[in-house]
Amino acid sequence: MSVRIAAVGDIHVGTSGTDLGELWSSLDAHADLLLLAGDLTKCGTVEEAEVVARALAGVRVPVVGVLGNHDVHTGHGAAVAAVLEQAGATMLEGAGCTIDVAGTRVGVAGVKGFGGGFPGSSCADFGEPEMKAFVHAARSSAAALAGALAQLDADVLVALMHYAPCRGTLVGEPEGIHAFLGCYQLGEAVDGAGADLAVHGHAHAGSRRGATEGGVPTFNVARPVLAAPYTVLTVDPKRCGGRRDEAVTQ
Ligand SMILES: [Fe+2]
Ligand SMILES: [Fe+2]
Repeated sequence: MSVRIAAVGDIHVGTSGTDLGELWSSLDAHADLLLLAGDLTKCGTVEEAEVVARALAGVRVPVVGVLGNHDVHTGHGAAVAAVLEQAGATMLEGAGCTIDVAGTRVGVAGVKGFGGGFPGSSCADFGEPEMKAFVHAARSSAAALAGALAQLDADVLVALMHYAPCRGTLVGEPEGIHAFLGCYQLGEAVDGAGADLAVHGHAHAGSRRGATEGGVPTFNVARPVLAAPYTVLTVDPKRCGGRRDEAVTQ
């Protein structure tokens, strides 16, 4: 049986605006779980997180999320995550969880991730301490993702990030900012674990589908890219671990 994974990121909820709860209210009719790929709030305040939590109240399928850079902007990322956890979401940062979908184990490992770029235009840990700290943040985030993926025993293995693990889903964004949208180390973590698919947000002007260097199908679910309240990825567990590009359709 296929697993239907709804996913969206970059909803950037403020204290006023569109009622996402209404847009998500029928989600459980055609999805088995919902992934939230970060930037759930505008500036990472508890008040904004409470608006997201109210929208989640009507979602009856399991919800798994990561924070984005906007969600940590005011320094209250832990509080934002706590509000969403209280609303029933499982918020991941260097951790994983397994969801049973009619006997199929869907493992999700998540991190916010970080920038740093991709081969040919990536940052190097040389020179100023600030540049070394920048590269270290990317490396440690990727290591946390790799560790979380390695701990999961699942039929469908999903890597959930805010930042991108490959260039393909950044097509459409100016090349000059690719180093701020993702990093190759995340892609190495996804590939090293043999994940079946990767999901991220952050690249508002990027492309919907790409692949890591190792060929893992990667989906940019930033809401401006989707132009919809969410997308649904259909995964065929029987094809996972093999021809991964054929295992997932959107
Ligand atoms: Fe965003
Ligand atoms: Fe972002």
